[in-house]
Amino acid sequence: MSRSTASSPTTPNASSAGARAIASPAFDALGVAGLLEAAIAAVPTGVTIADPALPDCPIVYVNDAFTRMTGYLPEEVLGRNCRFLQGARTDQAAVARVREAIARRAPVTVELLNYRKDGSRFWNELHVAPVFDAAGALTAFIGIQHDVTARKKAEAGRERARRLAERANRTKSDFLAAMSHEIRTPMNGVMGTLALLLETELDAEQRAYAETARQCGKDLLAIINDILDISRIEAGKLAIESVPFRLAEVVRAVLDLAAAAAAEKGLKLEARIAPDVPDTVIGDPLRLKQVLTNLVDNAVKFTAVGGVTVAIDQAPEATGGGLSFAVIDTGIGIPPSVQKRLFSRFAQADPSITRRFGGSGLGLTICRRLVTLMGGEIRLDSIPGKGTTFRFVLPLRAAEGAGLAPERVLPDPSPPKPPAARGRVLIAEDSRTNQLVVAAILRRAGWTVDVVSDGREAVRRATETDYALILMDVQMPELDGLAATRRVRALPGQRGQVPILAISGATAEADRRACAQAGMNGFLPKPIDRTTLLDAVEAVLADRRCPQPQPSPPAPAGPAPSGGDESGREDPLIDRAVLADLRESVEPARLPRLLALFAEEAEARLARIAEALAGHDLDALARLAHTLKSSAGAFGAAALARAVAALEEEARAGRAEEAARLAERVFALAQATLAALRAPETVA
Ligand SMILES: Cc1cc2nc3c(=O)[nH]c(=O)nc-3n(C[C@H](O)[C@H](O)[C@H](O)COP(=O)(O)O)c2cc1C
Repeated sequence: MSRSTASSPTTPNASSAGARAIASPAFDALGVAGLLEAAIAAVPTGVTIADPALPDCPIVYVNDAFTRMTGYLPEEVLGRNCRFLQGARTDQAAVARVREAIARRAPVTVELLNYRKDGSRFWNELHVAPVFDAAGALTAFIGIQHDVTARKKAEAGRERARRLAERANRTKSDFLAAMSHEIRTPMNGVMGTLALLLETELDAEQRAYAETARQCGKDLLAIINDILDISRIEAGKLAIESVPFRLAEVVRAVLDLAAAAAAEKGLKLEARIAPDVPDTVIGDPLRLKQVLTNLVDNAVKFTAVGGVTVAIDQAPEATGGGLSFAVIDTGIGIPPSVQKRLFSRFAQADPSITRRFGGSGLGLTICRRLVTLMGGEIRLDSIPGKGTTFRFVLPLRAAEGAGLAPERVLPDPSPPKPPAARGRVLIAEDSRTNQLVVAAILRRAGWTVDVVSDGREAVRRATETDYALILMDVQMPELDGLAATRRVRALPGQRGQVPILAISGATAEADRRACAQAGMNGFLPKPIDRTTLLDAVEAVLADRRCPQPQPSPPAPAGPAPSGGDESGREDPLIDRAVLADLRESVEPARLPRLLALFAEEAEARLARIAEALAGHDLDALARLAHTLKSSAGAFGAAALARAVAALEEEARAGRAEEAARLAERVFALAQATLAALRAPETVA
């Protein structure tokens, strides 16, 4: 046993030891001090005693464990201050904590890097405590040294592994987000083209195939959106908004979305909002809607009889307040064994969950994450065979007197407003397919469309022309959509005020905000489908905060496809401007093929028009004329489009004779038009 020869260790006196010991022959043999000294010598941690009465508070006692730990013999230690164990890499902040504690005569525990006699390093968990005598005077400091190198190494290893895993996860999330984004862009083309295809004349079998393709596309998009959401959440890139919104509007939008599916199954779909729930609250309406939509969709899917209720109540103050949301169904329920795993990622691997929840299996995980991000927790109560209730409480507070612009917070689900006067629209988009789709949709809606492929060209056109609207892709070569928008906004007069609708595959809040900050009036996420595109166009034009363009005069470079010509001038057989637009919108090399397709389709339709005429089937005639009208318009067959429009009108009005007369004209015009379209100079 190592023992100080310079001074005797402070040992408990009989009375203080008496509190923790009873009389024993062992004490008689060695005395209290002797026995305690033996105990200290035997402990596996270092024990040192320093004397504050001596200059520089030197060590006056060390035990064997200290020597084993540091390699220093007692004679090399005694009489020295213990700081000799420190070295270049010892953390000075920890040393300062010890110094301050000693000065205050207070106990302290620190972890310090110390150096052994052989120069090797070890982590020392050091505990220093003052010892006072019976009169309260400071007598000594006891130091307990514990070698925690192994634990520190393990901790550092875990920390490194955690950082690596975090980095890998971030990389994976970024990759997924990027890939989902990349996939969504061409999917835009697929979905848009399918929508156009479905508007054409198809036989029942073809229609069924195209519908299936569209449904699969929709399902795929839903999965991609889920992946995008979860990767954004995991990458910490999904910000939760705090804006005032009306709860009832969110609930109505959620129920509207599920209404058709519920009605088809004969389910009752209802909302119950307690009277003490505030009308307007501060929170994230889009994310709340996403969670409720997901839960209501699932509920409808798995309820055969009865109904689905969305209930909102005040949560009891005792449990922290907020608003309690519940989605209650009378469906098949979820067995307890499945309930536990339900919210975990990819719970889809379990077939019983797949059956219930379909899709990517990420829906409920996203719900749980979103609810957590919004400050709540989601749980479920389910009785198999009776029904399921998903419940979450969100800390939403009332937005009393907050300036609310409901139409900005939630799309108004009321019937769409009548379209504004059709004018000229500029599409700035570098993807050819998207150009084709967007341009075709807008043309069919009666707009005259200009298409450019980069931001610089967009600004040039916007400087020269009074557009009713600009659809601006955000990512474009030369000048991106944001910079282009800023330049347009800097234009003097009306042209600087033109409404600009962002089109972007990047739909994070930050992206939307950037668009708004650049001066865009609306945001249209890709992929674009006909309805959302037209709705967004109407919404931007109807937005009162957006300076309404003056109703534009009939655009100079091409009348609306089926529109009349107020000047009384005959419509041209081929409207070169429309055809030029089309050429601009598709790969130029594809134009002949597209025109050939149109010709083929038109001929087939004309044959059926003839059949309908012969069979006096005015309904079929109107339908066929209607479809031919839009495709003729899209391919610049202006005179034909006009004639077919008139034919449609007469057929709808039931005027068979007039329709037959017009049909003759349609046939003649069609022949001339198709011949003109096939002419080499048209295609060139
Ligand atoms: C009883 C006792 C034991 C100590 N043991 C150690 C030790 O094992 N390792 C260490 O780095 N410092 C130890 N110290 C701290 C140093 O002796 C010293 O108090 C610290 O370095 C701060 O003072 P300074 O700024 O004067 O160096 C101990 C202090 C006391 C009082």
